[in-house]
Amino acid sequence: MTGQDNLFLRDVAAMRSHAQAYLEPDAIASARPQATIALLQAALTIEILCVWRYTMMSVSARGLRDQQVGFEFQEQANDERKHTRMVAERITELGGMPDFQPKGLESRFGADYSGDFDRLVAQNLVAEQSVVEYYTDLIHYFGSSDPLTTAMLTTILQDEEDHATDMQDLLAS
Ligand SMILES: [Fe+2]
Ligand SMILES: [Fe+2]
Repeated sequence: MTGQDNLFLRDVAAMRSHAQAYLEPDAIASARPQATIALLQAALTIEILCVWRYTMMSVSARGLRDQQVGFEFQEQANDERKHTRMVAERITELGGMPDFQPKGLESRFGADYSGDFDRLVAQNLVAEQSVVEYYTDLIHYFGSSDPLTTAMLTTILQDEEDHATDMQDLLAS
């Protein structure tokens, strides 16, 4: 599945690609405070995207018809909202201003939630795997230089890994 037909993945990939320059090993040390905020802002944007996506899936025709599926996606949306708050709070603590109206998100438009639900779940799986990669990159970046941020990212990463497993389980059910 490519980002071409998976708008959710395309948005996650766009955020990661925007952040990539800050993750390069030869990034200028003096730019680090700016990099810290930019990397966390990309994470915040991804989290906002996930809140929308899973809330929309929980109230889709299938989500309302099949209570178990609707509940599963509401739970996921709740996790993502929790992550949104954690990341935004950390941005503020580090002297930044979390942006809750991020630009460049296209996937809230154009997704047809009345269509093939399994296809949407499969898109979620690939997007969650990309999110897992992004948090893994961030943990590597912050490492021991910022243990508080690293601990927060590690907590979120565990949830994201669970989300990927949940998508696999939904596809197998
Ligand atoms: Fe999340
Ligand atoms: Fe997630």
